[in-house]
Amino acid sequence: MRIKPWMSWATLIALFALGGCMSAMDTPKRSLYDRLGGQPAITAVVDDFIGNVASDNRINARFAKANIPRLKQRLVELISSGTGGNVTYTGRDMRSAHDGMFITDADFDALVEDLVKSLDRFNVPEKEKGELLGILGPMKPQIVGH
Ligand code: HEM
Repeated sequence: MRIKPWMSWATLIALFALGGCMSAMDTPKRSLYDRLGGQPAITAVVDDFIGNVASDNRINARFAKANIPRLKQRLVELISSGTGGNVTYTGRDMRSAHDGMFITDADFDALVEDLVKSLDRFNVPEKEKGELLGILGPMKPQIVGH
């Protein structure tokens, strides 16, 4: 059979379409966990963040009796699992973990400010910063006021 010009065009278009689909399959959306830099980057941010909290006189008294290494580990787990990392959170749920502390809106805002300082120090882009805060923000009702 002779190849007619319209046939080669159709073949080319089909090949381009197929190529487009395949490259879309090759590059699935990267999780926030991966875009943040995975475990090493999240651990570095959490270390720095807890350092900020420790020197923040608005809220540091609340952590006077805290087990800081365990808190850091659980924060890393919580952030990792919440952002799509293959990590299990081993701590209590946010309501039980903060029960009886009567954390205020101002406490919560101070802590988020301390986290944002660290995210900025590590040059986490606005998009990823917004996505992470969008994951932590909805936990507020479980943490504040009881
Ligand atoms: C988005 C905001 C917050 C997140 C994601 C968060 C996360 C956590 C996690 C994962 C734990 C460990 C739970 C466990 O070990 O079972 C914890 C404990 C704790 N959190 Fe929070 N927290 C938040 C806000 C706050 C605020 C605003 C305060 C007070 C200013 C606070 C004070 C504490 C204290 C004192 C502990 C106990 C630490 C210990 O006993 O070792 N948290 N939090």
